[in-house]
Amino acid sequence: MAAVPSGTGRDAATPEDPRAARLRAALTDQLIAEGAVATPRMAAAFRAVPRHRFAPGLPLEVAYANQVVFVKRDRHGVPTSSVSAPDIQAIMLEQADIRPGARLLEIGSGGYNAALMAELAAPGGEVTTVDIDPDVADRARACLDDAGYADVRVLTADAEGGVPEHAPYDRIVVTVEAWDLPPAWTGQLAPDGRLVVPLRLRGLTRSVAFDRVGDRLVSRSARMCGFVKMQGAGRHADQELFLNGGDLSLDADDLHTLPTAARIEDLLRAPRVARWSDVRVWRWEPWDTLPLWLATAFPGYCQLTIEVPGAPAVPGAPGGPGSEPLEPALRSGTPAVATESAFAYLTAYPVPDGRIELGAHAFGPAAEALADELIARISSWDRDHRNGPGPVITASPADDPAPQADLLVVKKHVQIAVDWVGERR
Ligand SMILES: C[S@@+](CC[C@H](N)C(=O)[O-])C[C@H]1O[C@@H](n2cnc3c(N)ncnc32)[C@H](O)[C@@H]1O
Repeated sequence: MAAVPSGTGRDAATPEDPRAARLRAALTDQLIAEGAVATPRMAAAFRAVPRHRFAPGLPLEVAYANQVVFVKRDRHGVPTSSVSAPDIQAIMLEQADIRPGARLLEIGSGGYNAALMAELAAPGGEVTTVDIDPDVADRARACLDDAGYADVRVLTADAEGGVPEHAPYDRIVVTVEAWDLPPAWTGQLAPDGRLVVPLRLRGLTRSVAFDRVGDRLVSRSARMCGFVKMQGAGRHADQELFLNGGDLSLDADDLHTLPTAARIEDLLRAPRVARWSDVRVWRWEPWDTLPLWLATAFPGYCQLTIEVPGAPAVPGAPGGPGSEPLEPALRSGTPAVATESAFAYLTAYPVPDGRIELGAHAFGPAAEALADELIARISSWDRDHRNGPGPVITASPADDPAPQADLLVVKKHVQIAVDWVGERR
């Protein structure tokens, strides 16, 4: 791959609007300040690739904002393709640790991320990007050509089978939410290769960097993220339970772990029990290991979203006229637990120093016990795992003997073991 003239991408022939260069430098500085860009090589890649040429028609300020650019939606308006936000691209590419000369596969094509990968793999690297949608692949091809990255290979295919013709890959970077890990991805990695993938686990999505160890994958890091969902053979329908005609929703990996909607509505009609943990966090603090810590402990783990703000959650229940409202800690995706005898969720209240204190609200005959269990679990997270690296996540073929693990999640192709042991301070 050719050397990259700084600030112009690979297209040194077309003079650049100086505002684009200024906005690109400002975006890179912002990503460095936020910690998303952590290495000089990543900063150089972000300073080099002209993001606006992958967002044609958009104002420069929008192209260089730290936000997603939507490319395509389905007939319900749900995004199916996008150029991801720069911070998550930086985080995932840092997780990938791409070295010069690397052979790379990107799954899901927007063009821009593949160009960043080409910068990181230069000189001597090789980038292939694949998308299931021919329109998206054509768009990525055109943008890459326009910005001077004609040597990035763009293919149209369902990535369930990987791209065997250009394997093995030193790194595979998946930029679409995956519920499972098809054997082709592990099989097409070089023996010491790394897969970075937004993996759905118990209703949570984490960008997991997995190193290949034989036919297993062992995690090095996991970061919070959100992505459009996988299409094709790896598509997995959302498991959502709607309450009160859709005012509330519960999101879980598998609805079999939850009581029925009618039972949860019943539980919510009981008075609210509140417990506080003494655990205080900053709103901006990354507490992304807490949901997985809770999901590991509670088989009825799910995530609560108030779909219609202000609507009574359940007629005659808390949130109805004259009763206490539901006050989940987050606007959407608040950690919650549902059993046959109690429903509880994480709540929070602001303390004067600007932090929030975490607590539990619970409903139903076993509300007190479940609220106490949640509080105990929040306290053990605070003591043992807060600011820690999170669990080790291991994926092995689904037909291997089941490993011992703190949490075992069985998918179609792999079984995923989540282990917190050894992470205690
Ligand atoms: C978030 S976008 C990709 C973002 C892109 N990497 C960028 O530069 O920011 C996700 C893409 O994954 C694609 N996709 C979904 N399922 C796929 C599959 N099974 N195989 C290949 N691509 C898929 C979608 O068509 C969509 O374009």
